[in-house]
Amino acid sequence: MDSSEWDARYASTDLIWSAQPNRWVEAEVADLPPGQVLDLAAGEGRNSIWLAALGWRATAVDFSSIALEKGRSIAAKQADGRAERITWHQADVLEYRAEPGGYDLVLLVYLHLPPAERHLVLRHAADALAAGGVLLVLGHDTTNVADGTGGPQDTSVLFTPSDIVADLATSGVTLRIEKAERVLRDVEGADRPAIDALVRATALGES
Ligand SMILES: C[S@@+](CC[C@H](N)C(=O)[O-])C[C@H]1O[C@@H](n2cnc3c(N)ncnc32)[C@H](O)[C@@H]1O
Repeated sequence: MDSSEWDARYASTDLIWSAQPNRWVEAEVADLPPGQVLDLAAGEGRNSIWLAALGWRATAVDFSSIALEKGRSIAAKQADGRAERITWHQADVLEYRAEPGGYDLVLLVYLHLPPAERHLVLRHAADALAAGGVLLVLGHDTTNVADGTGGPQDTSVLFTPSDIVADLATSGVTLRIEKAERVLRDVEGADRPAIDALVRATALGES
């Protein structure tokens, strides 16, 4: 889907994604001290908004201006200072280059791209990590189409944990892979869970 299709989707309803952070983001990030987070393909910003409430400074990037506007307005309704800690940036993540080494945490959550584009974005994401920074990649697993629930049905844009690990191996940044696994997520009303691919890695420095 291009940005106008995403804009139309975001304009068609109040909130597409939950107001709460994604459960895996919450579980993987809760133990990290607040710092700078880069949220690539941030959508309505549920993860950035939650992190900003914890004291993180967030850069939320998406190519849908409508999604970003929704996120900005949700954050602005909270009187706890989180809105001031989020920068909303409209850009295509295929072209966007964040400050190299500028981030303690980079999120790539449910961004589904063809393999060559995914590889490019992962390289940019890894470049943005400070030494010791954490990269969290999460998406619908390839097996979700046959064995899970919901999500894109085009397997050419889905990935497995091993696909991400292979992409990261050629990112030019030395990473310690801490988790590369399939995780199951219960979906209300569905008779079987969704299958997500989750990779968590820490940057050790330039290779
Ligand atoms: C499934 S949503 C996930 C949003 C958010 N990460 C979350 O979990 O709530 C995917 C998002 O990717 C964005 N997106 C897709 N391709 C993009 C691109 N090339 N550049 C920037 N954003 C993109 C869409 O606009 C959409 O907001």
